[in-house]
Amino acid sequence: MRTQVAIIGAGPAGLLLGHLLHRAGIDNVIVERHDRRYAEERIRAGVLEQGTIDTLDEAGVGERMHREGLPHEGIELLFDRKRHRIDLTALSGGRAIVVYGQHEVVKDLIAARVETGRPLLFEASDVAVHDLDSDHPSVTCVHDGAAVKIECDYVAGCDGFHGICRPAMPAGALKVFDRIYPFAWLGILAEARPSSHELVYANHENGFALFSMRSEKITRLYLQCEPEEDINEWSDDRIWSELHTRLETDDGWKVNEGPIMQKGVTPMRSFVCEPMQYGRLFLAGDSAHIVPPTGAKGMNLAVADVRMLSKALIAHYASNDDTRLAAYSDTCLKRVWRAEHYSWWMTSMLHRFPESTPFMDRVQRSELAYVTSSEAGGRVVAENYVGLPFAD
Ligand code: FAD
Ligand code: PHB
Repeated sequence: MRTQVAIIGAGPAGLLLGHLLHRAGIDNVIVERHDRRYAEERIRAGVLEQGTIDTLDEAGVGERMHREGLPHEGIELLFDRKRHRIDLTALSGGRAIVVYGQHEVVKDLIAARVETGRPLLFEASDVAVHDLDSDHPSVTCVHDGAAVKIECDYVAGCDGFHGICRPAMPAGALKVFDRIYPFAWLGILAEARPSSHELVYANHENGFALFSMRSEKITRLYLQCEPEEDINEWSDDRIWSELHTRLETDDGWKVNEGPIMQKGVTPMRSFVCEPMQYGRLFLAGDSAHIVPPTGAKGMNLAVADVRMLSKALIAHYASNDDTRLAAYSDTCLKRVWRAEHYSWWMTSMLHRFPESTPFMDRVQRSELAYVTSSEAGGRVVAENYVGLPFAD
């Protein structure tokens, strides 16, 4: 097989890149380790920032997102049993977010891909990349029981944090920055009508909790838990009781209960690999960086990377201009580090740390009081939450 760009991974990054390149007439092949059902059903991120909404629209895949997604113009921070609203739109010059599940974005992108007729190889095993420092890299895998070799001009490593692309870079060629948090999130999806229109981020003495949603009928909730938490220790009753404790307010607001459809534990880490390129390999999304989910930035960063990478590849093929390709890593890392700081900061402000002291608790309370009462403080939360505009 011969193509222009070989894309490893059919998560949001790989699928969107494939689609943006297709629309520019650039040939590409996507290779994915799992099956279609796995990709379409994996529950992960839920908040699309303004730049992501705009990028999906420009790619022609935003129609269902606008029809079924829930536009939000604010979020709430809950502490001392009171909710405090941050007006995202007023404080960010008119920008907003849409709550629409990552798996729905993936479904829309797979449907668009299938329509193009371009190759998307699900259940590919033994995926490996070769000759990245030459001008004729390639990808090999086993698909449908047969060995496949894909010769290409460029490889896009969109294979997530546990993929094979980043480890294929020579150790001396990259620098890694990371931080592992002393807690995780226990997340549930419940068949219950959301009891508030907006997301609620809670700082409670028992730990962080988040109230979110997926639709008018489905509530998504998270609880800070131990990093190695055994999900079997959490009966449905225990989960609801802890959610009520952490999310209770003096005005009587409560989360609605309903059958729990799914539960899981997500570890929390910050991670950046620099640079995001080696030879003809370009990393995008979680393969290059991870943020704790408190700032809702993970998928949005993946989209920003491939937006940049698609523009760089289009400039290469359309006008033989490699300036953007050469600047790809530096350009992306600026946004990445902004999101790394914001996600770390929101995490620090809202979670209970094992090493916390009464002094640190008071400092945290003061910070929450400041961002919810000062316009300047609110702007810092809002401007970063809705996402900074693209430089292009
Ligand atoms: P991924 O979505 O990880 O996609 C990578 C794809 O590559 C996968 O389909 C994988 O199967 C495939 N792949 C891996 N290895 C290979 C291989 N060797 N060969 C071929 N294919 C391969 N972000 C938020 O903003 N909010 C959240 O609530 C949130 N929750 C999360 C919960 C969990 C459990 C996790 C893991 C992440 C969460 N995130 C969240 C982060 C967000 O989901 C990611 O940032 C986003 O999925 C990144 O997209 P991606 O395409 O870069 O990577
Ligand atoms: C979600 O709905 O899954 C969600 C929302 C906001 C976050 C993280 C996760 O910060």
